[in-house]
Amino acid sequence: MKKLYLGTNLKMYKNISQTRDYLIRLRDLTTDLAGSIDLFVIPSFTTLPVAQEVLQGSHIRWGAQNMHWEETGQFTGEISPLMLREVGVTIAEIGHSERRHIFGEDDNALRKKVKSSIDHGMTALLCIGETAKEKADGISDEALSIQIKRGLKNIVPDDGDNVWIAYEPVWAIGINGIPADPEYVELRHMAIRNVCKLILPEIHIPILYGGSVNPQNAKELIDLRDVDGLFIGRAAWEAEKFNILIREIISAAYINSA
Ligand code: PGA
Repeated sequence: MKKLYLGTNLKMYKNISQTRDYLIRLRDLTTDLAGSIDLFVIPSFTTLPVAQEVLQGSHIRWGAQNMHWEETGQFTGEISPLMLREVGVTIAEIGHSERRHIFGEDDNALRKKVKSSIDHGMTALLCIGETAKEKADGISDEALSIQIKRGLKNIVPDDGDNVWIAYEPVWAIGINGIPADPEYVELRHMAIRNVCKLILPEIHIPILYGGSVNPQNAKELIDLRDVDGLFIGRAAWEAEKFNILIREIISAAYINSA
């Protein structure tokens, strides 16, 4: 069976007590999965100490939704890699679609964040995705290739184990998102894999799929070639439902690889 990467980004939802309840429940429901999958949760900044308290020593990793590349400085409103390490963060989500499109983060800034997060001992989870316009213009693979090549520009083979990619088509994300066809996802993942192999032939970069993943499509998506994991939003925000979904995904991946 391929190694599975399953995680969720809680975005700007859940306050401290809601996050605590969610993480305790998810941790306890999934204890038996320790060692069999790479499970992670990316809550809001103010809840990271709670994530550390609840998840330290468990099988669930916790991450941050954004990060500045500098350690300290005159960067009002930003959060530094040292601050994240202080609360045990080991995954830095870089360039989520909402960061790129609502807050104008560009590939140049994201490249520095990717490198800095790795240099500070974290896994960089670089999010990429084409817009609806790029898809309509037939340039999805070109758009993805540019985001990967720019985002991973400073990465050297030694950094390899600490880079993950989340492919999330912009048009497939969130409440207005349209779930992508599995055939379409498979082609994009193949294209992403080819670019990764071209620029970092020595390493296998896990490529996760995200964007309206739900109980209806998750099993088919995880079974696609070059899909190493799923990055899930809304469908993972109740611990009980996420636990059920995780188990369905694992059994689909297991059955189909048996
Ligand atoms: P969604 O979110 O699953 O709710 O579409 C995915 C994401 O934004 O990563």
